[in-house]
Amino acid sequence: MPQLGPYTLPNPYILAPMAGVSEMPFRVLAFRLGAALCPTELVSSQGLMRANQRTLKYLRYDAQVERPYSLQIYGGEPEAMAKAAVVGKEAGAQIIDINMGCPVKKVVKNGAGSGLLCDVPRAADIVRRIREATGLSVTCKIRSGWDARSLNYLQVAGALQEAGCAGLAIHPRTREQGYSGQADWGVIADLKRHFPELPIIGNGDVKTPADAVRMQETTGCDFVMIGRAALGNPWLFRELLGGPPATPRERCALVLEHLRAHLDFMGDPLGAVRSFRKQLAWYAHGLHGAAAFRAEVNGLDAPSAVEDCVRRFFTAAQVDLAGPGEEQDVDYRAALG
Ligand SMILES: Cc1cc2nc3c(=O)[nH]c(=O)nc-3n(C[C@H](O)[C@H](O)[C@H](O)COP(=O)(O)O)c2cc1C
Repeated sequence: MPQLGPYTLPNPYILAPMAGVSEMPFRVLAFRLGAALCPTELVSSQGLMRANQRTLKYLRYDAQVERPYSLQIYGGEPEAMAKAAVVGKEAGAQIIDINMGCPVKKVVKNGAGSGLLCDVPRAADIVRRIREATGLSVTCKIRSGWDARSLNYLQVAGALQEAGCAGLAIHPRTREQGYSGQADWGVIADLKRHFPELPIIGNGDVKTPADAVRMQETTGCDFVMIGRAALGNPWLFRELLGGPPATPRERCALVLEHLRAHLDFMGDPLGAVRSFRKQLAWYAHGLHGAAAFRAEVNGLDAPSAVEDCVRRFFTAAQVDLAGPGEEQDVDYRAALG
Protein backbone atom coordinates (compact mmCIF):
# COMPACT_ATOMS: atom_id res chain seq x y z
CA MET A 1 0.00 0.00 0.00
CA PRO A 2 1.31 3.45 -0.88
CA GLN A 3 3.04 5.42 1.83
CA LEU A 4 3.10 9.20 2.25
CA GLY A 5 5.17 10.38 5.20
CA PRO A 6 3.93 8.35 8.17
CA TYR A 7 0.60 7.59 6.47
CA THR A 8 -0.22 4.35 4.70
CA LEU A 9 -2.95 5.24 2.23
CA PRO A 10 -5.51 2.63 1.16
CA ASN A 11 -4.97 3.25 -2.57
CA PRO A 12 -2.96 5.58 -4.84
CA TYR A 13 -5.80 7.91 -5.92
CA ILE A 14 -5.83 11.51 -4.75
CA LEU A 15 -8.34 14.29 -5.41
CA ALA A 16 -6.51 17.36 -6.76
CA PRO A 17 -6.79 20.54 -4.73
CA MET A 18 -9.19 22.83 -6.57
CA ALA A 19 -10.08 26.34 -5.49
CA GLY A 20 -13.83 26.78 -5.03
CA VAL A 21 -14.33 23.01 -5.32
CA SER A 22 -12.17 21.11 -2.82
CA GLU A 23 -14.10 22.45 0.14
CA MET A 24 -15.09 20.21 3.02
CA PRO A 25 -18.42 19.01 1.50
CA PHE A 26 -16.83 17.82 -1.74
CA ARG A 27 -13.77 16.38 -0.05
CA VAL A 28 -15.97 14.31 2.26
CA LEU A 29 -17.90 12.89 -0.71
CA ALA A 30 -14.69 12.05 -2.57
CA PHE A 31 -13.20 10.37 0.50
CA ARG A 32 -16.37 8.33 0.99
CA LEU A 33 -16.30 7.21 -2.63
CA GLY A 34 -12.73 5.98 -2.27
CA ALA A 35 -10.25 8.83 -2.68
CA ALA A 36 -7.24 8.14 -0.46
CA LEU A 37 -6.40 11.79 0.12
CA CYS A 38 -8.16 15.08 -0.60
CA PRO A 39 -6.01 18.13 0.08
CA THR A 40 -7.82 21.40 0.67
CA GLU A 41 -7.81 24.10 -1.94
CA LEU A 42 -5.02 26.66 -1.63
CA VAL A 43 -5.31 28.77 1.53
CA SER A 44 -3.47 32.07 1.99
CA SER A 45 -0.59 31.98 4.47
CA GLN A 46 -1.00 35.69 5.07
CA GLY A 47 -4.67 35.21 5.89
CA LEU A 48 -3.89 32.35 8.28
CA MET A 49 -1.06 34.19 9.96
CA ARG A 50 -3.29 37.19 10.59
CA ALA A 51 -6.13 34.93 11.71
CA ASN A 52 -8.36 36.50 9.08
CA GLN A 53 -11.85 35.15 9.83
CA ARG A 54 -12.63 34.46 6.19
CA THR A 55 -9.41 32.52 5.73
CA LEU A 56 -9.87 30.49 8.90
CA LYS A 57 -13.14 29.17 7.50
CA TYR A 58 -11.15 27.27 4.89
CA LEU A 59 -9.65 25.16 7.66
CA ARG A 60 -12.92 23.42 8.51
CA TYR A 61 -12.79 19.69 7.91
CA ASP A 62 -14.54 16.50 8.96
CA ALA A 63 -12.27 14.66 11.39
CA GLN A 64 -14.39 11.49 11.08
CA VAL A 65 -13.78 11.14 7.37
CA GLU A 66 -10.80 13.26 6.36
CA ARG A 67 -7.86 11.15 7.46
CA PRO A 68 -5.18 12.23 6.94
CA TYR A 69 -6.19 15.86 6.64
CA SER A 70 -3.91 17.66 4.19
CA LEU A 71 -3.97 21.45 4.15
CA GLN A 72 -2.62 23.28 1.11
CA ILE A 73 -1.19 26.74 1.78
CA TYR A 74 0.40 29.30 -0.48
CA GLY A 75 2.76 32.18 0.06
CA GLY A 76 6.25 33.36 -0.80
CA GLU A 77 7.54 34.25 2.66
CA PRO A 78 9.18 31.38 4.59
CA GLU A 79 8.43 32.98 7.97
CA ALA A 80 4.78 33.61 7.16
CA MET A 81 4.42 30.12 5.68
CA ALA A 82 5.82 28.55 8.85
CA LYS A 83 3.48 30.59 11.06
CA ALA A 84 0.52 29.73 8.84
CA ALA A 85 1.41 26.04 9.00
CA VAL A 86 1.38 26.23 12.80
CA VAL A 87 -2.13 27.71 12.68
CA GLY A 88 -3.09 24.86 10.35
CA LYS A 89 -1.61 22.27 12.66
CA GLU A 90 -3.51 23.70 15.61
CA ALA A 91 -6.68 23.40 13.55
CA GLY A 92 -5.95 19.71 12.92
CA ALA A 93 -3.85 19.55 9.76
CA GLN A 94 -1.76 16.37 9.54
CA ILE A 95 0.00 17.14 6.26
CA ILE A 96 0.98 20.58 4.99
CA ASP A 97 0.96 20.82 1.20
CA ILE A 98 2.71 23.77 -0.39
CA ASN A 99 1.32 25.24 -3.56
CA MET A 100 4.17 25.81 -6.02
CA GLY A 101 2.06 25.61 -9.17
CA CYS A 102 -0.67 28.24 -9.09
CA PRO A 103 -0.32 30.38 -12.24
CA VAL A 104 -2.61 33.23 -11.17
CA LYS A 105 -0.99 36.69 -11.39
CA LYS A 106 -1.98 37.99 -7.98
CA VAL A 107 -0.41 34.86 -6.44
CA VAL A 108 2.84 34.72 -8.43
CA LYS A 109 3.50 38.44 -8.13
CA ASN A 110 4.21 37.85 -4.43
CA GLY A 111 6.65 35.07 -5.28
CA ALA A 112 4.07 32.41 -4.32
CA GLY A 113 2.53 29.55 -6.30
CA SER A 114 4.50 28.83 -9.45
CA GLY A 115 6.60 31.95 -8.63
CA LEU A 116 8.50 29.68 -6.23
CA LEU A 117 9.81 27.68 -9.20
CA CYS A 118 11.90 30.77 -10.02
CA ASP A 119 13.53 30.84 -6.57
CA VAL A 120 14.46 27.29 -5.70
CA PRO A 121 16.41 28.07 -2.48
CA ARG A 122 13.40 29.94 -1.10
CA ALA A 123 11.07 27.08 -2.04
CA ALA A 124 13.32 24.65 -0.16
CA ASP A 125 13.61 27.04 2.78
CA ILE A 126 9.82 27.08 3.07
CA VAL A 127 9.76 23.29 3.34
CA ARG A 128 12.49 23.34 5.98
CA ARG A 129 10.88 26.07 8.04
CA ILE A 130 7.47 24.42 8.03
CA ARG A 131 8.96 21.10 9.07
CA GLU A 132 10.88 22.70 11.91
CA ALA A 133 7.90 24.75 13.08
CA THR A 134 5.30 21.96 12.96
CA GLY A 135 7.03 18.57 12.82
CA LEU A 136 4.42 17.62 10.21
CA SER A 137 5.01 15.94 6.87
CA VAL A 138 5.27 18.49 4.10
CA THR A 139 4.31 17.77 0.50
CA CYS A 140 4.69 20.12 -2.47
CA LYS A 141 2.79 20.56 -5.71
CA ILE A 142 4.78 21.93 -8.64
CA ARG A 143 4.58 22.51 -12.37
CA SER A 144 7.35 21.49 -14.75
CA GLY A 145 8.80 25.00 -14.80
CA TRP A 146 7.97 28.63 -15.37
CA ASP A 147 8.11 28.38 -19.16
CA ALA A 148 9.50 26.14 -21.90
CA ARG A 149 12.95 27.70 -21.50
CA SER A 150 13.13 26.97 -17.78
CA LEU A 151 12.03 23.41 -17.24
CA ASN A 152 13.72 23.09 -13.85
CA TYR A 153 11.59 20.38 -12.24
CA LEU A 154 14.59 18.13 -11.55
CA GLN A 155 16.45 20.91 -9.80
CA VAL A 156 13.32 21.86 -7.84
CA ALA A 157 12.66 18.23 -6.84
CA GLY A 158 16.26 17.73 -5.74
CA ALA A 159 16.18 20.80 -3.50
CA LEU A 160 12.78 19.92 -2.06
CA GLN A 161 13.80 16.33 -1.33
CA GLU A 162 16.93 17.56 0.37
CA ALA A 163 14.79 19.90 2.49
CA GLY A 164 12.75 16.90 3.64
CA CYS A 165 9.70 17.01 1.36
CA ALA A 166 7.62 13.86 1.96
CA GLY A 167 5.94 13.72 -1.43
CA LEU A 168 5.89 15.68 -4.65
CA ALA A 169 2.86 16.27 -6.86
CA ILE A 170 3.69 17.32 -10.41
CA HIS A 171 1.32 18.89 -12.93
CA PRO A 172 3.58 18.70 -15.96
CA ARG A 173 2.68 21.92 -17.69
CA THR A 174 4.62 25.17 -17.36
CA ARG A 175 3.22 28.24 -15.69
CA GLU A 176 3.17 29.91 -19.10
CA GLN A 177 1.03 27.08 -20.50
CA GLY A 178 -1.69 27.48 -17.90
CA TYR A 179 -4.09 24.71 -18.92
CA SER A 180 -3.34 24.71 -22.62
CA GLY A 181 -1.71 21.88 -24.53
CA GLN A 182 -1.26 18.47 -23.01
CA ALA A 183 0.28 17.47 -19.71
CA ASP A 184 3.69 15.93 -20.49
CA TRP A 185 3.70 12.63 -18.62
CA GLY A 186 7.33 12.15 -19.69
CA VAL A 187 8.18 14.69 -16.97
CA ILE A 188 6.53 12.48 -14.34
CA ALA A 189 8.53 9.47 -15.53
CA ASP A 190 11.72 11.54 -15.52
CA LEU A 191 11.10 12.63 -11.92
CA LYS A 192 10.45 9.07 -10.76
CA ARG A 193 13.62 7.87 -12.50
CA HIS A 194 15.76 10.54 -10.85
CA PHE A 195 14.11 10.36 -7.42
CA PRO A 196 13.12 6.74 -6.82
CA GLU A 197 12.88 7.31 -3.05
CA LEU A 198 10.60 10.34 -3.25
CA PRO A 199 6.86 9.56 -3.50
CA ILE A 200 5.77 11.10 -6.81
CA ILE A 201 2.16 12.12 -7.35
CA GLY A 202 1.44 12.29 -11.08
CA ASN A 203 -1.22 14.74 -12.21
CA GLY A 204 -2.65 16.10 -15.42
CA ASP A 205 -5.29 15.07 -17.96
CA VAL A 206 -6.37 11.82 -16.29
CA LYS A 207 -9.95 11.52 -17.53
CA THR A 208 -10.83 7.86 -17.00
CA PRO A 209 -9.81 4.92 -14.81
CA ALA A 210 -7.87 3.57 -17.81
CA ASP A 211 -5.90 6.84 -18.01
CA ALA A 212 -4.97 6.51 -14.33
CA VAL A 213 -3.65 2.99 -14.83
CA ARG A 214 -1.77 4.10 -17.93
CA MET A 215 -0.20 7.00 -16.04
CA GLN A 216 1.03 4.70 -13.30
CA GLU A 217 2.29 2.08 -15.73
CA THR A 218 4.06 4.43 -18.08
CA THR A 219 5.58 6.81 -15.52
CA GLY A 220 6.06 4.64 -12.42
CA CYS A 221 4.46 7.35 -10.27
CA ASP A 222 3.40 6.30 -6.78
CA PHE A 223 0.10 8.20 -6.75
CA VAL A 224 -2.30 9.58 -9.33
CA MET A 225 -3.99 12.91 -8.66
CA ILE A 226 -7.23 13.74 -10.44
CA GLY A 227 -8.81 17.16 -10.75
CA ARG A 228 -11.19 18.15 -13.52
CA ALA A 229 -12.41 14.64 -14.29
CA ALA A 230 -13.79 14.41 -10.74
CA LEU A 231 -15.88 17.57 -11.13
CA GLY A 232 -19.48 16.38 -11.03
CA ASN A 233 -18.15 12.83 -10.95
CA PRO A 234 -16.70 11.86 -7.56
CA TRP A 235 -17.77 8.28 -8.41
CA LEU A 236 -14.64 8.19 -10.53
CA PHE A 237 -12.79 7.21 -7.33
CA ARG A 238 -15.13 4.25 -6.84
CA GLU A 239 -14.63 3.22 -10.45
CA LEU A 240 -10.87 3.42 -9.98
CA LEU A 241 -11.24 0.77 -7.29
CA GLY A 242 -13.28 -1.46 -9.60
CA GLY A 243 -16.73 -0.24 -8.55
CA PRO A 244 -19.62 0.80 -10.79
CA PRO A 245 -20.38 4.29 -12.13
CA ALA A 246 -23.22 6.23 -10.54
CA THR A 247 -26.79 5.09 -11.05
CA PRO A 248 -29.35 7.88 -11.67
CA ARG A 249 -30.78 7.31 -8.18
CA GLU A 250 -27.36 7.59 -6.55
CA ARG A 251 -26.54 10.69 -8.54
CA CYS A 252 -29.75 12.39 -7.46
CA ALA A 253 -29.21 11.49 -3.78
CA LEU A 254 -25.60 12.64 -3.81
CA VAL A 255 -26.34 15.95 -5.55
CA LEU A 256 -28.97 16.70 -2.90
CA GLU A 257 -26.60 15.70 -0.12
CA HIS A 258 -23.83 17.85 -1.57
CA LEU A 259 -26.21 20.80 -1.92
CA ARG A 260 -27.34 20.51 1.71
CA ALA A 261 -23.79 20.15 2.98
CA HIS A 262 -22.76 23.17 0.91
CA LEU A 263 -25.65 25.23 2.34
CA ASP A 264 -24.56 24.28 5.86
CA PHE A 265 -20.93 24.95 5.09
CA MET A 266 -21.54 28.40 3.60
CA GLY A 267 -24.10 29.51 6.17
CA ASP A 268 -25.47 32.08 3.68
CA PRO A 269 -28.31 30.55 1.62
CA LEU A 270 -28.18 32.92 -1.34
CA GLY A 271 -24.38 32.79 -1.63
CA ALA A 272 -24.50 29.03 -1.28
CA VAL A 273 -27.14 28.56 -3.97
CA ARG A 274 -25.21 30.78 -6.36
CA SER A 275 -21.83 29.20 -5.73
CA PHE A 276 -23.37 25.74 -6.15
CA ARG A 277 -24.53 26.47 -9.72
CA LYS A 278 -21.22 25.45 -11.21
CA GLN A 279 -21.39 22.16 -9.31
CA LEU A 280 -24.88 21.52 -10.69
CA ALA A 281 -23.62 22.21 -14.21
CA TRP A 282 -20.85 19.65 -13.69
CA TYR A 283 -23.22 17.03 -12.27
CA ALA A 284 -25.61 17.55 -15.18
CA HIS A 285 -22.87 17.42 -17.80
CA GLY A 286 -23.49 14.69 -20.35
CA LEU A 287 -27.08 14.10 -19.24
CA HIS A 288 -29.98 14.58 -21.60
CA GLY A 289 -31.52 18.06 -21.16
CA ALA A 290 -28.56 19.47 -19.23
CA ALA A 291 -28.68 22.87 -20.95
CA ALA A 292 -32.36 23.40 -20.12
CA PHE A 293 -31.74 22.26 -16.53
CA ARG A 294 -28.89 24.75 -16.16
CA ALA A 295 -30.99 27.58 -17.56
CA GLU A 296 -33.79 26.76 -15.13
CA VAL A 297 -31.70 26.26 -12.01
CA ASN A 298 -29.58 29.35 -12.68
CA GLY A 299 -32.76 31.42 -12.31
CA LEU A 300 -33.56 30.05 -8.85
CA ASP A 301 -32.37 31.61 -5.59
CA ALA A 302 -34.40 29.73 -2.95
CA PRO A 303 -32.74 26.54 -1.68
CA SER A 304 -36.06 24.65 -1.63
CA ALA A 305 -36.75 25.57 -5.27
CA VAL A 306 -33.27 24.39 -6.26
CA GLU A 307 -33.83 21.11 -4.40
CA ASP A 308 -37.12 20.53 -6.24
CA CYS A 309 -35.53 21.29 -9.58
CA VAL A 310 -32.59 18.97 -8.82
CA ARG A 311 -34.93 16.17 -7.75
CA ARG A 312 -37.01 16.47 -10.91
CA PHE A 313 -34.05 16.56 -13.26
CA PHE A 314 -31.75 13.98 -11.73
CA THR A 315 -34.44 11.38 -10.96
CA ALA A 316 -35.27 11.16 -14.63
CA ALA A 317 -31.91 12.06 -16.14
CA GLN A 318 -30.51 9.75 -18.77
CA VAL A 319 -27.05 9.80 -20.22
CA ASP A 320 -27.13 11.76 -23.45
CA LEU A 321 -26.22 9.20 -26.06
CA ALA A 322 -25.29 11.97 -28.48
CA GLY A 323 -22.55 12.89 -26.02
CA PRO A 324 -22.14 16.13 -24.15
CA GLY A 325 -22.93 19.10 -26.37
CA GLU A 326 -20.15 21.36 -25.20
CA GLU A 327 -16.95 21.32 -23.16
CA GLN A 328 -17.27 21.95 -19.47
CA ASP A 329 -16.23 25.45 -18.65
CA VAL A 330 -13.62 25.27 -15.93
CA ASP A 331 -11.99 28.58 -15.29
CA TYR A 332 -9.17 28.42 -12.81
CA ARG A 333 -9.11 32.21 -12.32
CA ALA A 334 -12.83 32.46 -11.83
CA ALA A 335 -12.62 29.65 -9.30
CA LEU A 336 -10.01 31.58 -7.39
CA GLY A 337 -12.45 34.47 -7.14
C1 LIG B 1 -11.09 24.93 -10.77
C2 LIG B 1 -9.68 24.58 -10.45
C3 LIG B 1 -9.10 25.05 -9.29
C4 LIG B 1 -7.77 24.69 -8.97
N1 LIG B 1 -7.26 25.11 -7.78
C5 LIG B 1 -6.04 24.65 -7.39
C6 LIG B 1 -5.55 24.89 -6.08
O1 LIG B 1 -6.20 25.53 -5.24
N2 LIG B 1 -4.32 24.39 -5.76
C7 LIG B 1 -3.57 23.65 -6.64
O2 LIG B 1 -2.47 23.20 -6.30
N3 LIG B 1 -4.02 23.39 -7.88
C8 LIG B 1 -5.24 23.85 -8.26
N4 LIG B 1 -5.72 23.50 -9.49
C9 LIG B 1 -4.92 22.61 -10.36
C10 LIG B 1 -5.32 21.15 -10.14
O3 LIG B 1 -5.01 20.74 -8.82
C11 LIG B 1 -4.61 20.22 -11.15
O4 LIG B 1 -3.21 20.37 -10.99
C12 LIG B 1 -4.96 20.52 -12.59
O5 LIG B 1 -6.35 20.72 -12.74
C13 LIG B 1 -4.51 19.39 -13.53
O6 LIG B 1 -5.13 18.17 -13.20
P1 LIG B 1 -6.41 17.60 -14.05
O7 LIG B 1 -5.98 17.54 -15.47
O8 LIG B 1 -6.68 16.26 -13.43
O9 LIG B 1 -7.53 18.58 -13.85
C14 LIG B 1 -7.02 23.87 -9.84
C15 LIG B 1 -7.61 23.42 -11.02
C16 LIG B 1 -8.92 23.75 -11.33
C17 LIG B 1 -9.52 23.21 -12.59
